Amino acid sequence: MSPTPPPYSEFKLALLGFGNVGQALIELLLEKELTLKDELGIIYRVVGIASGNHGAAINPGGLSLPEVLKSYRNGVSLDEFSELPISGSLEFIQNCGADLLFETTPVNYQTGQPALDFLRQALEGGMHAVTANKGPVVHGYRELTNLAKLRGLSFLFESSVMDGAPVFSIARCGLPGAKVISFSGLLNSTTNLILTRMENGESQEEAVAYAQSIGIAETDPRGDIDGWDAAVKIAALVTVLMDIPYTPDQVNRTGIRALTPDMIQEAKETGKRWKLVCTAHRDDSAPQGIIASVQPKKISPESRFFNVLGTSAILEIESDVLGKLALIEENPSPRSTAYGLLADFLNAVNHPLD
Ligand SMILES: NC(=O)c1ccc[n+]([C@@H]2O[C@H](COP(=O)([O-])OP(=O)(O)OC[C@H]3O[C@@H](n4cnc5c(N)ncnc54)[C@H](OP(=O)(O)O)[C@@H]3O)[C@@H](O)[C@H]2O)c1
Repeated sequence: MSPTPPPYSEFKLALLGFGNVGQALIELLLEKELTLKDELGIIYRVVGIASGNHGAAINPGGLSLPEVLKSYRNGVSLDEFSELPISGSLEFIQNCGADLLFETTPVNYQTGQPALDFLRQALEGGMHAVTANKGPVVHGYRELTNLAKLRGLSFLFESSVMDGAPVFSIARCGLPGAKVISFSGLLNSTTNLILTRMENGESQEEAVAYAQSIGIAETDPRGDIDGWDAAVKIAALVTVLMDIPYTPDQVNRTGIRALTPDMIQEAKETGKRWKLVCTAHRDDSAPQGIIASVQPKKISPESRFFNVLGTSAILEIESDVLGKLALIEENPSPRSTAYGLLADFLNAVNHPLD
């Protein structure tokens, strides 16, 4: 007699955004398909994928992922795989019929749009909403979290800061009742890589080109160089970990643009390194009770930040009960970001948040 198969739960998934991260997510879903089924009893079907300018596809029976991925990378529009005509991202969300939407469109530091509307629409349509995009976290955390709760759904965003590292899960699940007093870190992989490569003799322009070639620089690298990416991550952490709504323009921000090869070499000769350091701490006398900054700083070897090189990142969280906790992520890639999205999916459907 053959053993009784375990009960499976099936989930329909849709992806809005099909760039570095969206494609890495499809690869990871394919790689983990059997693990999800055998170990967690989860079966998934990807019923929709949409890009901005390269088409969109909905297939309620499930898209053939290896075929879509291969064709898309060969320049075939997603439209070729659609069973329905789709005009625009909001219509895609309305009609995809998914249980969960992964949102991975480019960040908008100033308003979080249009991603904010996309995620709102997904939740209003009864889908869990998962994003790697920092914009809607900063500009819509409370609204989207409350909307998700109202509908018995989850709004999760683990990949939005430190790629797939479980920053928000640690705070949500591992620090109940604790008060986060401050945090500091190296949160922008691109500038950390640029500074490491400049120490090894490259110009800033050469180092930026390399970061773009491996798919880690933002669509517009000025966001990294001028500290906006770091500022929006600081704002996301203050908003979520400290529960104080905070925006990137409130962060005292200086990027790495003014750091010259001579300054980098001079620091090296004195045994130090330049790092783009993010900090935030509570201060009752400051507006909203927070002082936050991103600044290039010369770091000594005694600092935990000194040996965090290349695309690696570090976050040190200080709470009223545990003192300082540090999380280091070594050499993340779009695959690490994809894992954060996958983890959010599993957390949303395995342990729905109340
Ligand atoms: N790359 C990383 O490792 C990483 C790490 C952490 C977080 N993130 C965040 O993850 C998100 C995606 O990053 P990425 O590197 O994958 O970016 P990307 O390669 O530039 O891909 C963005 C995707 O979004 C699509 N898109 C743009 N506007 C859209 C719209 N209005 N509706 C539907 N799709 C739209 C683009 O389509 P077209 O190509 O057709 O324009 C493209 O498929 C960003 O918010 C980023 O900040 C990325």
